[in-house]
Amino acid sequence: MERSVAAALSLPASDASAARDVPTAFTIGGRVRVAPNVILAPMSGITDSVYRALVKDLNPGAVGLVVTELVSIEGLARKDLRTFRMLRHVPRERPLSIQLFGSDPARMGEAAAIAEQLGADVIDVNCGCPVPKVVKRGGGAELMRQGPVLAAILRALRGVLSIPYTVKIRAGWDDDSRNAVEIARLAEGEGAAMIAVHGRTRVQLYTGRSDWDLIADVKRAVRVPVVGSGDIEQAADALTRLRTSGVDGVMIGRAALAQPWIFREVAALRDGAVPMAVTLAERLATIDVVLARLDAELPPESALGRARGLACRMVKFVRGGAALRESLTRAPSIVAMRALLARAADEPFESPDGATHVPPTDSSFIGSTC
Ligand SMILES: Cc1cc2nc3c(=O)[nH]c(=O)nc-3n(C[C@H](O)[C@H](O)[C@H](O)COP(=O)(O)O)c2cc1C
Repeated sequence: MERSVAAALSLPASDASAARDVPTAFTIGGRVRVAPNVILAPMSGITDSVYRALVKDLNPGAVGLVVTELVSIEGLARKDLRTFRMLRHVPRERPLSIQLFGSDPARMGEAAAIAEQLGADVIDVNCGCPVPKVVKRGGGAELMRQGPVLAAILRALRGVLSIPYTVKIRAGWDDDSRNAVEIARLAEGEGAAMIAVHGRTRVQLYTGRSDWDLIADVKRAVRVPVVGSGDIEQAADALTRLRTSGVDGVMIGRAALAQPWIFREVAALRDGAVPMAVTLAERLATIDVVLARLDAELPPESALGRARGLACRMVKFVRGGAALRESLTRAPSIVAMRALLARAADEPFESPDGATHVPPTDSSFIGSTC
């Protein structure tokens, strides 16, 4: 391994095999191959079909699985059009995991059957969303406190699905109930074919750090694949976490928003190469592609809001991008936003080295989403 790659991975240069020793793939339920074992994490308000496809396009062969935003089983039961739209996807996203949230086992079964019919490769049950309106109705992280309900939900899925189902959990509800290991065992016992763990409690929301020791405990406690989530900020972190925690795979969330090409950087590091720096021009062009696709694919009433949210988050990590973000927020249309980006590309506003990387885990980045 090149010395510079070893340095990026915080490995001794002599440890040439370390990056190659980490697992590179796993299978969910004996049917869905996740290769490579680096997954785009579900992010409400962000990982819609447009974003998932963009991430796949920017990282050819380097994203093993993508997960939808959390989708309401109540919305599906009500035949709500906006909820149904969240199930849309394009073939190049696959394998695709559709994440559902709710607390009623029968409804979960019905919603999962619909999602399977519409092309999901995997159904994931959200057991981590901390948002009060989700938790108060018994869903999301509340399921970490309601083992019997979670068990009933998973049994309902077993009764209706022919594709595998998985859970995404948190470390626990709070520091006094860090029960991820117990919930993982319960889920495995009820047929969950993979456990993803975000190593923060519900009470922590996004403060503190993801507890990778606890994630490693979960890995040791079950036989199904375990995927770790939380605070992978740079490509090298993904390989370090795979190596040190023993998990089968990792999920990347916020860093994939700030750096949607992070998956190909992980692949490059794995191959012993040094990832190419991404220039400001590429970053602005990427945002422009997202905006154009949102404009083309979403109804106008939802496209502008989503475009603003996404562009502002993506620009947030451009050095000197505050003014651009401000104008993007005020722009009256996607066309106007794209014009602002084009102008920004013509008149660069950041440092002369062209670097745009800043660590993405700033808590103001989260908003009130899951
Ligand atoms: C804006 C945002 C939305 C999220 N939405 C979801 C969601 O819908 N379902 C879910 O299971 N986790 C959701 N998460 C949690 C992420 O999947 C991930 O576990 C968490 O952000 C930690 O990983 P990271 O440090 O790589 O971002 C969300 C996180 C963020 C920042």
